Amino acid sequence: MSSSVERFDEKARRTFSRHGQTVVHRGELLRHTVYTRVLHWTVAISFILSLLSGFAIYSSWLYRWLTPLFGGGPLTRFLHPWFGLVFTIAFFFQFLNWFAPMHWTTADKRWMREVKAYITNREAVAPKDTGFFNGGQKLYYWTIAVCAVIFLITGLLLWFDDVIARWLVAVSYVLHDLAALAMLAGFIIHLYEGTAAQPGTFQSMTNGTVTNKWAWTHHPAWYAEVTGRDPREDYERERQRLTERDRVVEERERAEDRPQASVGTRDDRVR
Ligand code: HEM
Repeated sequence: MSSSVERFDEKARRTFSRHGQTVVHRGELLRHTVYTRVLHWTVAISFILSLLSGFAIYSSWLYRWLTPLFGGGPLTRFLHPWFGLVFTIAFFFQFLNWFAPMHWTTADKRWMREVKAYITNREAVAPKDTGFFNGGQKLYYWTIAVCAVIFLITGLLLWFDDVIARWLVAVSYVLHDLAALAMLAGFIIHLYEGTAAQPGTFQSMTNGTVTNKWAWTHHPAWYAEVTGRDPREDYERERQRLTERDRVVEERERAEDRPQASVGTRDDRVR
């Protein structure tokens, strides 16, 4: 199964790269191809539209605020299952696209155990065996996969609720809403991690690239795999380079008798 998925994925990647290119500058690495980015943003947009239209139907308070976005109550009800369907189909392709790097490994277990040190910045760089995706990202992916299946089954049952038993409709409502809440929580964390928490991550889904510094900081094993270099050594070399540069600047400023400019901590600049 996995080789036919890979073949399909490879073909899709090649087709998309004929229509758009990813420019990788010096000091950068290719992170996400055009195909992956198109899939991701289709998933993201259809998910947000499903979420907003779903909340509009779910809560009478939100109904007033959100339904005008979709042209009124009846149109919101009509559109919601279609947004959901687009989300499920787009995520199915994204699921195939990321299936290989999302396999759970012992490195992910370790990442989960050490996550506190990493997110509280006690450790400047991620554990050295962190590959293309870390344990948290894989957890998010698999949560979406499970929720997408729940959405699809319960969503279809709710769409055609006049032909199924009442108890099944009631159970579907509960499962559909629980999946939506789990997805909302995951989405909030994902939004934060993909933007403010880790500067440089967002550009991987726009330009498709990341800097070497970003890679050796957050995904050292992937950095080692694609560059053939030691992430820890490169991190240390960059640290020493900046230390030396600071020393030269300080000396020059002292010589010129000027107050020293604030340039941030060294650790901030090597990751
Ligand atoms: C609209 C706001 C969003 C932003 C700014 C955003 C940003 C990103 C970025 C930058 C990455 C790449 C991370 C990396 O290369 O390490 C990513 C990956 C991913 N995104 Fe999004 N995303 C958004 C919405 C969504 C939504 C709505 C979903 C699904 C419901 C989603 C699912 C994923 C998944 C499964 C990954 C791979 C695993 C991970 O990085 O967590 N994203 N996203």
